[in-house]
Amino acid sequence: MSVRLGDVAPDFTAHTTQGEISFHEWLGDSWGVLFSHPKDFTPVCTTELGYVAKIKPEFDKRNVKVIGLSVDSVESHEKWEGDIGETQGTPVNFPMIGDSDRTVSNLYDMIHPNANDTFTVRSVFVIGPDKKVKLTITYPASTGRNFDEVLRVIDSLQLTAKFKVATPANWQEGNDVIIGAAVSDDEAKTLFPGGWKTVKPYLRVLPQPK
Ligand code: BEZ
Repeated sequence: MSVRLGDVAPDFTAHTTQGEISFHEWLGDSWGVLFSHPKDFTPVCTTELGYVAKIKPEFDKRNVKVIGLSVDSVESHEKWEGDIGETQGTPVNFPMIGDSDRTVSNLYDMIHPNANDTFTVRSVFVIGPDKKVKLTITYPASTGRNFDEVLRVIDSLQLTAKFKVATPANWQEGNDVIIGAAVSDDEAKTLFPGGWKTVKPYLRVLPQPK
């Protein structure tokens, strides 16, 4: 069954490179990123895991826990981690789930049989502190993901969870934002006393609230 935005992220227990975890308990009050890769000891995956390790401080800064997954075993992940550290310059510093029995892959619909009936695709799930799914992304095996984009979306998700705003195309932290469509001008006057620019009645722009 597919996991959609707003669904409660399915809970599970799993073996990982950092011991057995119970997913919801492991997340605690943090945000989470659960991402799958197709296969250990493959080139694109090696670069992805190395990049996530490199930018882990950026996830930490945002109170986001990161966890990887493939249908390879924990033992395989542990052997591969040596190669990742050696070639990508940063040791793997987050847990990886060994999902040989496909329990988690099936729960999250990470195997797309018409793409490949053996491997997980490159799925990303961002999960909020309320355990609900805030973002899903699916990439094919041949395309490495842009994890800076995942950070960018997390910045938007965390901002829009706090203020009644939305973020425009290609928004980056610090750029102007948009007043949410459901907010009336009267409510906006209370929420944003510093004012805004009305480009169209439905397009009201203001500096990013802090
Ligand atoms: C890779 O990571 O390079 C890869 C993995 C599975 C299929 C194709 C490419």
